[in-house]
Amino acid sequence: MQFRARLILATVSTVAYCAAVAALNVTIYQNTSFAPAELPVPYAASQCDEIVELFGRLGRTTVWNLVEKVHFEGDTYEPEGIVRIGDDRYFVSAGEYTNKTVKYGNNVVINGTDRTAGSGFAHMIVFDGQGNRIADASLTERGAIEYHNGGIDYDGEFIWATIAQYRPNSTATLMRIDPRTLNPTTILHVADHEGGVVHDTLTNKIVMLNWGSRNASTWKTHVKPAPYPSFTSFHVTRNPSYYIDYQDCKFLGHPKAFDYRGTMICSGVTSLNSTITIGGVALVDMETMIPVEEVPITISSDLGAAITTNPMDVAVVDGRLRFYFLPDQHNSTLYVYEAEPNSPFEF
Ligand SMILES: *[C@@H]1O[C@H](CO)[C@@H](O)[C@H](O)[C@H]1NC(C)=O
Ligand SMILES: *[C@@H]1O[C@H](CO)[C@@H](O)[C@H](O)[C@H]1NC(C)=O
Ligand SMILES: *[C@@H]1O[C@H](CO)[C@@H](O)[C@H](O)[C@H]1NC(C)=O
Ligand SMILES: *[C@@H]1O[C@H](CO)[C@@H](O)[C@H](O)[C@H]1NC(C)=O
Ligand SMILES: *[C@@H]1O[C@H](CO)[C@@H](O)[C@H](O)[C@H]1NC(C)=O
Ligand SMILES: *[C@@H]1O[C@H](CO)[C@@H](O)[C@H](O)[C@H]1NC(C)=O
Ligand SMILES: *[C@@H]1O[C@H](CO)[C@@H](O)[C@H](O)[C@H]1NC(C)=O
Ligand SMILES: *[C@@H]1O[C@H](CO)[C@@H](O)[C@H](O)[C@H]1NC(C)=O
Repeated sequence: MQFRARLILATVSTVAYCAAVAALNVTIYQNTSFAPAELPVPYAASQCDEIVELFGRLGRTTVWNLVEKVHFEGDTYEPEGIVRIGDDRYFVSAGEYTNKTVKYGNNVVINGTDRTAGSGFAHMIVFDGQGNRIADASLTERGAIEYHNGGIDYDGEFIWATIAQYRPNSTATLMRIDPRTLNPTTILHVADHEGGVVHDTLTNKIVMLNWGSRNASTWKTHVKPAPYPSFTSFHVTRNPSYYIDYQDCKFLGHPKAFDYRGTMICSGVTSLNSTITIGGVALVDMETMIPVEEVPITISSDLGAAITTNPMDVAVVDGRLRFYFLPDQHNSTLYVYEAEPNSPFEF
């Protein structure tokens, strides 16, 4: 059964240039709650020290055991980020592209970017633990030029997202979404493409990663943002690592093992040329962007995508480190992989 609801929300701004978040357009597929009534703590941040300890034992020779494959119902567009909220809900950020962006030409840059705006919708899709689709919200209006919903983070109360133009060095809107209602709230406007966001709940820092995660822009939530749609300014940190482009990250905490420095776990891929794509996972210092530990993962999905393409979440289950990956576009399968604790150790 399909219920159709269109909820009109109070908006921060009705400026046409940034039509993002003027209204929430949500298709409800199952008459059940989006999220548990009592929101659980995030897996990543509540298991920080265990994740750091188990991550430290990974290497190139780690054996990855497939625990579960879950087919996600319906069109998933281009999935960008995933958060698991409790054992029976997955929230997936995704981009629907109704008109492709087109490159201006070889090395042609106009107004700081290299392609046309294209068009589409930013989605937040809710699935249960068996992959049944519960609801699909379009967070942007038809004609909005910001429609790319990047990597997401869940802090125990909100899902944080950046909805950006689908081109480098453009603009983005930082939002937080209530998982119980899917209602988005606009927080601020950024004069760059942002493709992922992490909330350090201990220092109240929001770290956003731009195109290819080359730069991190940091904002402290007690600093008043510029009134939307004016752009807020940020502390920018250059990412020193070109090994992979981080796509989806989760806040871990301030682990003792890393001198209590704010740390996130990130996954990603990069194409070195048209035939070689590499992927992996990393623990990253949120202040310096230095990868403290990083490990390649060479698994592919059944459809041929590098397993670390876009969405990733993490948890420790029965003492084992588990990753949740959703690499394929449109027709997506969740791959749950666990690191074999007795993998041969590489010297
Ligand atoms: C949805 O479920 C609630 C109880 O869980 C029920 O009261 C309501 O009538 C249902 N709505 C529809 C449209 O079936
Ligand atoms: C799609 O993008 C092209 C530029 O690449 C533009 O000329 C065209 O008007 C756009 N179409 C729509 C429906 O937005
Ligand atoms: C570049 O910016 C100028 C000034 O805002 C605008 O008039 C022009 O249309 C833009 N060019 C493109 C290709 O977007
Ligand atoms: C980004 O675009 C702005 C114009 O919007 C331009 O001034 C700036 O040089 C560009 N930055 C980079 C790194 O390309
Ligand atoms: C709701 O979003 C979908 C995109 O998933 C779009 O096709 C549809 O036109 C939107 N409806 C309204 C009323 O904006
Ligand atoms: C990224 O950061 C570098 C160094 O701070 C800066 O020169 C560059 O303009 C930034 N790029 C963008 C797209 O903002
Ligand atoms: C990509 O790089 C590899 C290793 O250098 C090389 O063998 C291959 O031909 C390259 N492919 C393309 C399309 O350039
Ligand atoms: C969807 O993907 C699965 C593999 O993950 C494949 O077996 C199936 O044929 C695909 N379905 C369609 C309609 O492409």
